[in-house]
Amino acid sequence: MPSLRNDTFLRALRREATPYTPVWLMRQAGRYLPEYNATRARAGSFLALAKTPSLATEVTLQPLDRFALDAAILFSDILTVPDAMGLGLHFAEGEGPRFSRRTADEAAIRALAVPDMSALRYVFDAVREIKRALDGRVPLIGFAGSPFTLACYMIEGAGSADFATVRRMAYARPDLLQRLVEVNARAVVAYLDEQIAAGADAVMLFDTWGGLLSAGAYREISLASMRRVLAALKPAPDGRPVPTIVFTKGGGHWLDAIASCGASCVGLDWTVDLAAARAQVGARVALQGNLDPVVLLADRETVVREAEATVRAAGTAPGYVFNLGHGIQPGTPPENVGALVEAVHRESRAARASA
Ligand code: CP3
Repeated sequence: MPSLRNDTFLRALRREATPYTPVWLMRQAGRYLPEYNATRARAGSFLALAKTPSLATEVTLQPLDRFALDAAILFSDILTVPDAMGLGLHFAEGEGPRFSRRTADEAAIRALAVPDMSALRYVFDAVREIKRALDGRVPLIGFAGSPFTLACYMIEGAGSADFATVRRMAYARPDLLQRLVEVNARAVVAYLDEQIAAGADAVMLFDTWGGLLSAGAYREISLASMRRVLAALKPAPDGRPVPTIVFTKGGGHWLDAIASCGASCVGLDWTVDLAAARAQVGARVALQGNLDPVVLLADRETVVREAEATVRAAGTAPGYVFNLGHGIQPGTPPENVGALVEAVHRESRAARASA
């Protein structure tokens, strides 16, 4: 494996000094890019795209060919894991994800098992092919859903505005929910270990729905399971621990607890005051975030101004990765993404020069 020509992202995760702030964007490969839509049309569907390593490689690299991004993220989805458990994932056009089978009652949850990782071979093949295609340009981020966020989709069988069925289970049958989350946690460890063995340079846990839980349930169910996952991960093939990122959307008021879950870096959504978050966690962990993705739907001047403000709020202490507070929205003008990346690099170099 060639060594990395640009490792600013990994250095920032390890809280080492960098000449500028590294930037990548959640959903940087996606529908706002015409070339993504063309590849997706060729594949026939989002799932066909994600399950074909050569096409997943192509779309992973598309945003890097346009913008000076400092990391690539595996093109896949968090729901590949429950799909491999036999739940039958499909995407109804314009409706988001659906499962043919739900895992909502005691019998279904007891029947669930960690899937054989050979069912997810297409993901590990994609990681290997992307690493070859990157040829050391930037690091590759692997990822998984958090055990709780996966449970949300498995119980509802689809997305939901409030996941009320899941939250009711957290109070009425916490033992059942914990059992489901425990199976997911073991599956996520096996899944991330394989991504790391295939070459992922860092891994991220997407806890999109952890913020829906009460403070106590978040700690005992979602955060506790992420802590177990992080503690169980194997080191990289070179023997070093792999840097990790935990992102709980809506988790800003639990920052202290999240900062001590064992992750190298905590992802923040746009509701969090970044300067206050930095002051609160000090040098304990790296931070990642947190520009509101809808800023990218505004005019170029607004994008640049808000990007600069975010960089200034983060400060110049080591351990910061620029990102959005959630994924890029479809309809985002690609030019705005270019202006954003450029502004982050320029402003963070200037901030270091005057610090
Ligand atoms: O960030 C990246 O560029 C990497 C790829 C990536 C996708 N999904 C591709 C995708 C990642 C990291 C994910 C994670 C994911 N998937 C999450 C956690 C992050 C988040 O957004 O909160 C969740 C909750 C999912 C589940 C999921 N997948 C939903 C709810 C949807 C439908 C919503 C939508 O945007 O259409 C998907 C589909 C999906 N996953 C798309 C992409 C690019 C859009 C599919 C398409 O092309 O139609």
